Amino acid sequence: MGCIADVGAFARKRTACRGPRSRNIDQLSCTPPAADSIDAVAQCGIAPPSPLMNIADLRTTYRRATLAESDVASDPFVQFEGWLDQAIASEALEPTAMTLATVDAEGRPSARVVLLKGFDADGPPPDGSARGFVWYTNYDSRKGSDLAANARAALCLFWPELERQVRIEGAVAKASADESDRYFASRPLGSRVGAWASPQSEMIASRDIIEDRERATRSRFEIAADAEQADLPRPPHWGGYRLVPDRIEFWQGRPSRLHDRIVYRGERGRWTTARLAP
Ligand SMILES: Cc1cc2nc3c(=O)[nH]c(=O)nc-3n(C[C@H](O)[C@H](O)[C@H](O)COP(=O)(O)O)c2cc1C
Repeated sequence: MGCIADVGAFARKRTACRGPRSRNIDQLSCTPPAADSIDAVAQCGIAPPSPLMNIADLRTTYRRATLAESDVASDPFVQFEGWLDQAIASEALEPTAMTLATVDAEGRPSARVVLLKGFDADGPPPDGSARGFVWYTNYDSRKGSDLAANARAALCLFWPELERQVRIEGAVAKASADESDRYFASRPLGSRVGAWASPQSEMIASRDIIEDRERATRSRFEIAADAEQADLPRPPHWGGYRLVPDRIEFWQGRPSRLHDRIVYRGERGRWTTARLAP
């Protein structure tokens, strides 16, 4: 029986090493005090765009590392774990952020960022599912309805600090209720209330709607406005998804755009690797 790699543990390890800017895995986003202020931009470490900048001239030469067939682990989950560890150690701002691409019933693709919350580094999870990569969301959201219509997806992680990209493709299934319950219970109270309050992806007339719904959720579950702890069940419309990969590509930037790309293809522990042209 394998155990799922606890991405939160990686983040906590990193949090312990960082100063006042440290965040835990559910507080990774930089929240500026005022959306448009230069101070806010500075706090997030983002350079303000110059009016003279021609984006076609923006280029970075990648030369930090190489990736050879002989460098990679035989198991892509082990390979991923090593790269994620290094991304966390590199103090990447959001090392677990990944673009999730889904396709709706009419074949229209859409993509958004979600946070990786676990992956089965050591073997299949105890519930008998195949090994995969897990994130959490609202099952009634746009991505949820895409996945109900078309249960395949792609994930893409980019770690600019390491000049690395990982692309993961495969079939998606809901995580077990137990797994989702455990993760939901580990979230900060505000995030748990938010999961009840937000009809994710629905059009709403104003922000007031969400704030009213947040207050209504607190009142329904008798949670005081200043409470830090409370028991709250997981909403039935909220939980995890596990993508079980049949293809994982590791990309390392190299000079002259002649990058290294190693792809794993296969499933359930039978993987072959190949090099792809950059
Ligand atoms: C850094 C970052 C992390 C995010 N993490 C999540 C997440 O883990 N789960 C989630 O549902 N949405 C997350 N979001 C919000 C999604 O990008 C998206 O707005 C939301 O899930 C609704 O997408 P949909 O309408 O396509 O379903 C995150 C956004 C960012 C920028």
